[in-house]
Amino acid sequence: MEVIVCDSAAEASRMAAGRVNAAVRENPRLVLGLATGSTPLALYKEMAAACAAGLPYRGVTTFNLDEYIGLPPDHPQSYRRFMDENLFKQLDIDPARTFVPDGMAPDMEAYCAQYEAAIRDAGGIDIQILGIGSNGHIGFNEPPSPLDSRTRVVRLTEQTIRDNARFFADASEVPREAVSMGVGTILDARCCVLLGFGANKAEAVRQALRGEVSEMCPASALQRHADTVVFLDRAAAAGLG
Ligand code: F6R
Repeated sequence: MEVIVCDSAAEASRMAAGRVNAAVRENPRLVLGLATGSTPLALYKEMAAACAAGLPYRGVTTFNLDEYIGLPPDHPQSYRRFMDENLFKQLDIDPARTFVPDGMAPDMEAYCAQYEAAIRDAGGIDIQILGIGSNGHIGFNEPPSPLDSRTRVVRLTEQTIRDNARFFADASEVPREAVSMGVGTILDARCCVLLGFGANKAEAVRQALRGEVSEMCPASALQRHADTVVFLDRAAAAGLG
């Protein structure tokens, strides 16, 4: 695991974007795994800037990690809407190549199998972008999450509901369930790029990078991944010693 500690989240995001944009330049048909939340926003701005400066994203395919169950795609807090607003509209990407799990699918079990098949059919994920929850989750793989789990319906923990309540009128409006790629799905990506910013991530980062590999800290599974690079700001790296 390569760990890069930067002076600021902005610098870390620029460096991570450098890797993603270089990979798109090298392979215009790259398959990217994407995350939502506050962490990747600056990275997405850098990707959009590269596209505006002439880097074509039109051949790239994307798969998002997760979506809330019960939120339609046009709901202001749905992850589909988040991705459209914060990235896809700023790229020349073909909307048909942007996959975000459907939180309204009538048969979730069949839908999850279909999402896994779509990733396989696209040739697998080349680079998976990840944030980390303050409880060590990646995607919505809450502790405990089996390290070989696949795309499935998950229940959000109280901590995640509290963390994400900032995007909703209040915590009672945060959906209690989500559909998420599994830890095993994430580990199948050829390269994982984990971003962690801020003091509130320091303990989760410490456990993920220095703790034992355990389903109680799903991000720790990345220790078993052959090609993971972690970009941190100083505050998030504070526990690494
Ligand atoms: C969301 C996702 C989550 C977030 C994590 C951190 O798609 O994958 O694991 O990355 O909850 O969220 P932020 O970045 O808002 O702190």
